[in-house]
Amino acid sequence: MLDEQTKLQIQEGGRSTFMKHITCIEDLRLRHKRNVPKAFFDYADRGSYAEETLRANRDELQKIKFRQRILVDVSRRDLSTRILGEPAALPLILAPVGLTGMQYSDGEIHACRAAQTEGIPYTLSTMSICSIEDVAANVDKPFWFQLYIMKDRGFIKALVERAIAAKCSALVLTVDLQVIGQRHADIKNGMTVPPEWTISKLFDFATKPAWVAGMLRGKRRPFGNLAGHLKGTDDITALGAWIGTQFDTTLNWKDVEWIRSIWPGKLVLKGILDVEDVNEAAKSGAQALVVSNHGGRQLDGAPSSIEALPEIVDAIGDKMEIMFDGGIRSGQDVMRALALGAKSCMIGRAYIHGLGAFGGPGVAKAIDIIRNELSTTMGLCGVNTIAEIDDHVLAI
Ligand SMILES: Cc1cc2nc3c(=O)[nH]c(=O)nc-3n(C[C@H](O)[C@H](O)[C@H](O)COP(=O)(O)O)c2cc1C
Repeated sequence: MLDEQTKLQIQEGGRSTFMKHITCIEDLRLRHKRNVPKAFFDYADRGSYAEETLRANRDELQKIKFRQRILVDVSRRDLSTRILGEPAALPLILAPVGLTGMQYSDGEIHACRAAQTEGIPYTLSTMSICSIEDVAANVDKPFWFQLYIMKDRGFIKALVERAIAAKCSALVLTVDLQVIGQRHADIKNGMTVPPEWTISKLFDFATKPAWVAGMLRGKRRPFGNLAGHLKGTDDITALGAWIGTQFDTTLNWKDVEWIRSIWPGKLVLKGILDVEDVNEAAKSGAQALVVSNHGGRQLDGAPSSIEALPEIVDAIGDKMEIMFDGGIRSGQDVMRALALGAKSCMIGRAYIHGLGAFGGPGVAKAIDIIRNELSTTMGLCGVNTIAEIDDHVLAI
């Protein structure tokens, strides 16, 4: 059941006057930065090492230019599409984002509700604050669940069973994180588990009273999917120590086969960036893949996602549905990825900025901004439907 405040927020979502000066995702980003402690803002905003890939994701998208077409009847513009066979209001998905509930209290529930109200899928991260069961009990429709395979395979099997019991409608298996890229900012900010309490951090928290009050009101605490489900890891320190030992460098395609055998529903492989990995992916029994470099948070120096996309599209043909993420901050960016062969796009930071800025209504606003930009871009490029978008809209 939705509480009264959230109902009101959702009714207002993205369309009320208090957000009328918010016109683009960057406005939400600046508001997010102002509202949320630096350690959590930087955790979302920054990338690994020298951030070359983080920057490339944005730079390479912006280099792609459209053909401006005129005097085409674009009065029947329709952004609706199908994602994994299900109807969606636009070709957009909220990506899995760890610790979403630290950007805004109960953030996963707010983001999922906003996505469902706006008619697009939401993906809950393994590393969420709200647990699968908690989100399922507080939203109206099924959502997707993202899985990291950890060393404790008994726990992973139980987690998959929990996702089945919660009626999750797709499993997104993330395959680009068996070794963890370092984000310098997180270390400098003491964004460690357990957290480091420095004077500057306490001062920063003291200047974000609304965020602190929200967190104190919220009843969810870190890593809802893990806490209470593992022996001897009830407190955050023990949980952190457990997570630190759990990333599995032995991961390989046999593990994907195992997941395929225990998950009966739709499967998405997230984190494919190289054409040589496409053949195995196509044989894995997964329905879709996400061309992704984890938003520039893993292999620094890897190509931008948009640079990798065309070759992967060519190699996969119609064997799998292709999703895309990395650097999407506008409807123009969605159009660019669709023009190069993606069927839909995931956004990570774009909606997290909305959440950090305004909670659920901020997520709705982020989706609304991207929807309006995509619709206008389609109109100015002379197309009416998502199916019509291909490389003929590009000036290349
Ligand atoms: C703060 C943050 C946390 C993330 N956590 C996860 C995660 O738990 N699982 C996952 O598969 N991807 C995770 N990602 C990657 C996103 O799912 C997505 O690939 C990325 O954000 C796309 O790039 P964008 O932020 O430029 O849209 C995370 C990204 C961010 C920004």
